[in-house]
Amino acid sequence: MPTALRPILAIETSCDDTSVALVRADGFVVGLFSANQDLKHAPYGGIVPEIASRSHTDVLMPLIDVALTQTQMSFRDLCAIAVTAEPGLLGSLLVGVVTAKSLALGWNLPLVSVNHIEGHLLAPLLRDATSAPPEGFQFPYLALAVSGGHTSLFVVHELGHYEEIGTTRDDAAGEAFDKFAKMVGLGYPGGALIDRTAVGGNPSAFPFPKALRDEENLDFSFSGLKSSAHRLITDLGEAKVQSSLSDLCASYQATIVETLLEKLAWAQKKTKLRRVAITGGVSANSELRKKSEAWAKSCGVSLVIPKLSYCTDNAAMIGYAGYLRFLRGERATLDLAPSPRSTARSGIVRGHV
Ligand code: KG4
Ligand code: ZN
Repeated sequence: MPTALRPILAIETSCDDTSVALVRADGFVVGLFSANQDLKHAPYGGIVPEIASRSHTDVLMPLIDVALTQTQMSFRDLCAIAVTAEPGLLGSLLVGVVTAKSLALGWNLPLVSVNHIEGHLLAPLLRDATSAPPEGFQFPYLALAVSGGHTSLFVVHELGHYEEIGTTRDDAAGEAFDKFAKMVGLGYPGGALIDRTAVGGNPSAFPFPKALRDEENLDFSFSGLKSSAHRLITDLGEAKVQSSLSDLCASYQATIVETLLEKLAWAQKKTKLRRVAITGGVSANSELRKKSEAWAKSCGVSLVIPKLSYCTDNAAMIGYAGYLRFLRGERATLDLAPSPRSTARSGIVRGHV
């Protein structure tokens, strides 16, 4: 098989999704196979790190088997193995990294280390049989990475150069959704449940505070919103909360969506970038999708929100980042160690606009 057509095998286990993908040099996803652990963590109302790593251990090797069988590939068809080595839950990362190292050694394949956030930032460039980025969508672009673990604005200059121009000072937006869902008894994970419950609700019924509303400041803060929601829910009482659930969810959701879009619009004005992406699990939010598409149309920017399976944690985005790094000659050695935080090798730098 010509090298460009040989896929890379990618492994992602940084949090609570076990994911394996085969990706080609042009970002074409040959196959993506993911197993989420939501049901295992749901009784605890949040991710239990020990359960996450144990579940990766049970699921990862069988998932790699499924990925190769379903795509009719053998390890001999692969060009390399890419693995998420940072940032994330250390025990979870360790399962992926140890597995990737063992396979690279056993199959005599090169190993490439990828940063998880870098993966989210490159997800807008993924393609498959039914989806592709718009013509001409390439580096540099502005990206809002918004999930349960991160909420940041980046200028994605090129592979290995990601300038973070704003980030959350406390909770991530997904975390704010999940905590509110827990407060009103909707369950875990909360983002999608709030999205569904908000349908038909009045987004102006309950005024929630928005933080850091200064055009010069591209940082986010969601802790004040969370505290004010907690006070409101206590004051309303259980019966009123349940009878107003749709209005509460619509109001809370609108506050987060408006905050994210306000900052994104300011960042676009400052950077003047005409290509914009929204990525990460929260980009599944129907209100965020609708409002951001309307905003992009009104100011004539090219907006990409990757399809859902590429927005939430997945190995396809790791495969593409890994392939580009592989083509650049990067190789990880067998002493590759996972890191809970991003390291300098990711190319993520703090910047200002
Ligand atoms: O990217 P992701 O799968 O994992 C992390 O890296 O965190 O994102 C998960 C987050 C969770 O907080 C979840 O509640 C949120 O994405 N989420 C949503 C929706 N679907 C998932 N938030 C708002 N609306 C949704 N429809
Ligand atoms: Zn993520």
